[in-house]
Amino acid sequence: MSVKREVLAQRVRLVRPSGIRKFFDIINTMPEVISLGVGEPDFVTPEHIRHAGVQSILEGHTRYTSNYGTIALREEIAAMLERRYSLIYNAANEIMVTVGVSEGVDLAMRTLIDPGDEVISPDPGYVAYEADIIFAGGVPVPVPTYAEHDFGVRASEIAAAITPRTKMILLGNPNNPTGAIIARHELEGIAKLAVEHDLIVASDEVYSRLVYGSDHVSIATMPGMQERTILLDGFSKAYAMTGWRVGYVAAPVHILEAMLKVHQYTIMCAGTAAQEAALEALRHGEEDVKVMHDEYARRGTMFVEGLNRIGLPTCKPRGAFYAFPSIHHTGMTDEAFSEKLLFEEKVAVVPGSSFGNAGAGYLRAAYCTAYDQLEEALVRIERFLKSHV
Ligand SMILES: Cc1ncc(COP(=O)(O)O)c(C=O)c1O
Repeated sequence: MSVKREVLAQRVRLVRPSGIRKFFDIINTMPEVISLGVGEPDFVTPEHIRHAGVQSILEGHTRYTSNYGTIALREEIAAMLERRYSLIYNAANEIMVTVGVSEGVDLAMRTLIDPGDEVISPDPGYVAYEADIIFAGGVPVPVPTYAEHDFGVRASEIAAAITPRTKMILLGNPNNPTGAIIARHELEGIAKLAVEHDLIVASDEVYSRLVYGSDHVSIATMPGMQERTILLDGFSKAYAMTGWRVGYVAAPVHILEAMLKVHQYTIMCAGTAAQEAALEALRHGEEDVKVMHDEYARRGTMFVEGLNRIGLPTCKPRGAFYAFPSIHHTGMTDEAFSEKLLFEEKVAVVPGSSFGNAGAGYLRAAYCTAYDQLEEALVRIERFLKSHV
């Protein structure tokens, strides 16, 4: 028996299915495709980290952990945040281990957003942001970013979007899909706005270890910000641990305790073996991060130069592992371009409009795939352009 559409909650009906998923479903039926569609490291989790996970299971650590996550992992996260940012978080009640940053973003919304509250977020942005805001009953307020500014977020544009209903600013820094980072002076400007208007900032920094040519700056380090920032980070990208599903939240105690309430009633805790693997990653994974970072940098330099050479203007990514070429001059929509490229040349990319209206006319091409595959993708894209433009 079919279910009537009206049976679904309105806020769920409001959210469009992920444009990325749609392409995955097609790609899975085409083995000869070079996929630049997936935002996921092609590396396998480093061996010592995998062993730690296996060891955890073999030793019989098969029960729930504390809702917060294991204290060993939280202490290690606190020590790392102090080392990296000189930020002091209490491991006992200001850090919580989550099922990836995905859960952290959702928790931040469900814990702080009331129906009608506005959440400002740069456009284009990670696909889950808009959905999570809507699931929580909030109103997404996209603030466009532009290629002319390397897709950098500008505090002046955030300021223009603030209304009496604004509750939160949700940032992805570095950004998926553009690879942009937010300049320090703009972060300072955004921090001032947050303090002045009494706003919370949720800062998704899952690519914080994948920044090229500069050091990552967290907005939590800006004056007055630790007390109003929900810092979200995790293990998926830095340690090639997407399938383990571990992330964390660091936030002031009154916010974290409230997030814990939502987390404990929906998730209980992140997987135990995954937490023990994450602990090993933090304790002994630094060299792995460096090796993978340098390889992404090598691939990104070649790939982005290649895209520009074959006629697709592309900003230099400053973080993450995405190129975001413009296809405006081709006269095709990003959706039509992606679909034709997939069927004619067997190269999968994601239409930029999947990440917001400001992404229309761009493609997201992930360069977390092998160097020679990226070279071959460039050959195919160039051939495609020659036959269509
Ligand atoms: C910006 C951003 N945030 C969060 C996530 C999800 O990360 P996790 O695997 O930690 O849930 C992704 C995954 O692609 C992402 O690109």
